[in-house]
Amino acid sequence: MPDPKQEIDSLTEKLQQWQQEYYQKARPSVSDTEYDRVFDMLKELEEKHPGLRRPDSPTLRVGSDLSAELPEVEHTIPVLSLDKAYTAAEVDAWVAKTAKNAEEDLSFVIEEKIDGASIVLYYENGLLVRGVTRGNGHIGNDVTDNIRTIRSVPLRLSEAVSIAVRGEVFLPLDRFDEINADQEVPFANPRNLAAGTLRRKKSSGVALLPLDIFVYEGYMSGSDEEPFEQHHLVLDYLIGLGFKVNPRLGIFGSRCTGPVFRSEAGLEFSSGPLDAVEPFLERMTAGRNNLGYEIDGLVIKVNELESRERLGYTGHHPRWAIAYKFESPQAVSMVESIDVQVGRTGRITPVARIKPVRIGGSTVSNVTLHNQQYIEALELAEGDQVAVSRRGDVIPAVEKVIEKGESSDPVWQMPEICPSCGGTLEVRGAHHFCVNRRCPDQVSGRINFFIARDQMDIDGLGPETAAVLLDQGIIAGIEDIYTFDAERLKGLPGFGEKKIALLQKGIKESRKRPFRIVLPSLGIPDLGQKAAELLIEAGFRDVDSLLEAADKHDTEHLAGIHGIGEKTAASILESLRDPELRRQIDALRKAGLNFREKESGADEQLPPIFEGQVWCVTGSFENFKPRSKAMEEVKKRGGRAVGSVTGTVTHLLAGEGAGSKLEKSRELGIEIVSEEEFLRLLEES
Ligand code: IVH
Repeated sequence: MPDPKQEIDSLTEKLQQWQQEYYQKARPSVSDTEYDRVFDMLKELEEKHPGLRRPDSPTLRVGSDLSAELPEVEHTIPVLSLDKAYTAAEVDAWVAKTAKNAEEDLSFVIEEKIDGASIVLYYENGLLVRGVTRGNGHIGNDVTDNIRTIRSVPLRLSEAVSIAVRGEVFLPLDRFDEINADQEVPFANPRNLAAGTLRRKKSSGVALLPLDIFVYEGYMSGSDEEPFEQHHLVLDYLIGLGFKVNPRLGIFGSRCTGPVFRSEAGLEFSSGPLDAVEPFLERMTAGRNNLGYEIDGLVIKVNELESRERLGYTGHHPRWAIAYKFESPQAVSMVESIDVQVGRTGRITPVARIKPVRIGGSTVSNVTLHNQQYIEALELAEGDQVAVSRRGDVIPAVEKVIEKGESSDPVWQMPEICPSCGGTLEVRGAHHFCVNRRCPDQVSGRINFFIARDQMDIDGLGPETAAVLLDQGIIAGIEDIYTFDAERLKGLPGFGEKKIALLQKGIKESRKRPFRIVLPSLGIPDLGQKAAELLIEAGFRDVDSLLEAADKHDTEHLAGIHGIGEKTAASILESLRDPELRRQIDALRKAGLNFREKESGADEQLPPIFEGQVWCVTGSFENFKPRSKAMEEVKKRGGRAVGSVTGTVTHLLAGEGAGSKLEKSRELGIEIVSEEEFLRLLEES
């Protein structure tokens, strides 16, 4: 019986070596199946001996389902930002000035500026102990569990050193496109998705995303003396420790000339004298779209570490580096406040009120922030300076935080209660909801939705008029539109005789809207015009059949309709069980709205005596030749006519020589009507 500790150690190390070959060197030496087999062996052993699991075990990369509340932790290194330049000429000038003022010959390293989520990895004695977001530069969020799931982050280094390493977590572009394909609120860019994922509360979800990392700075702790003279040697060292460093680099200055400069760890730098910087920037800029990940610029850094110290820092950025940004941001503004809006479905949407700025010809002052996750991905708080764009030239979006403001909390937090009604908010999926259907903002949202042009389209009743009616307490919900006392409008400013008459006419007209308009106008989540059409076509021709399906929890039936998914079906039925909604439907029904779809072919002039009935016609008739004429009469009076006898048929019109259909109808207990009786029904109507 082998010693379990020894075995766990040996399997852990074997897997680590394979992982390193795979992720850092891209040269695997075993097949995936072999890897998985050993992985499973280790997992099983660890489950048997939980105490023996090592903190650097590869099994930790699958993440955990436990919820972490993302505690805040203080950085032990200052996590500074970068000064910016927007043209190659500016960079050139900065390089020349910095080189001229230096006491020694300088060289400059140029790296890609990865457009991802900034992270600091803290290692103690060679073990990953903490992964922290940049936050406000002093305090960030502890996302260690999530970081562990990223396979290119070493859990144990090749040396037992204590070191802080800065890097950028990113999502490769091909995977981003795949993931984004089926999102309700699509992620604006891979950076937001990577950042949002890093801040997830359950690491098991993070493990499913193929996040990757490049590291670019290392800070040794414990030694006063800088062990390396140059930045590129630090990069070499980081590679040796097991980190992934972006190999697309440039190095320029008199110390390293020649077309390529190869470092000890094998990094190949494009190299040359200082005047080769500008063409290099141009070349890198031209190639930016051919990478498997996004970059938003290049970073130019002094290579000599002693000179870096001499150059020093401002509170915001080091003086020894500058970012060359590919494009100037569309606009920069400040987030004055973050408000929340309550939609008609109760969904809470945070909105940034920014200092008005002009972007692409119009002024932007409100920017939607979608939900809490979106804000966390941006690490946004009130008071922050932000870059704002208009995506697809229309919808303004916050691209990123440029500079954190003074807000004590580095990330804005959704309030716990509804700003409109004070009710407690519930989290459903990515969104917060106010679940109080009587919430004032929801009520006015629903009314505005109901009366809108492409819904009930009530002439004379627009959002402004509706707001007055609500304010005055004349209506308190959709149903009141049909019952309020018009006398109460008299004397209200803006409500002259003409206006009141127009409004009353508009309301009266709207009673005629067919069921397929009334149903989606109710504003039931997931029940829009398309879904309503599908339901009606599939035989849910009145609201009662839908309410019945809701009572029976008949999700299967609804989900069986082509075009309606399981989730949609369940959501619609759940809404239809809400007593408040039912009360509203009843009230609207009493007010005379259509809750049953008229058959096409119905004649408005005739009373709909066959509404809700399904007729089958068989045999031959004296007064209806051909017999389709009888079917026409059924349809004109609101009934449906079908060609065969099934369980949904309510009446059989049986003429001379009726055969098997008559028999079947008898078996099924369907009401059988003779030509004579049918004529009498028509006459009576
Ligand atoms: S150096 C003091 N190098 O850009 C050192 N930053 O706008 C400052 N970034 O917060 C960072 N790639 O998240 C550096 N190769 C790179 C980078 C890089 C991306 C990000 C980083 C930083 C931001 C500054």
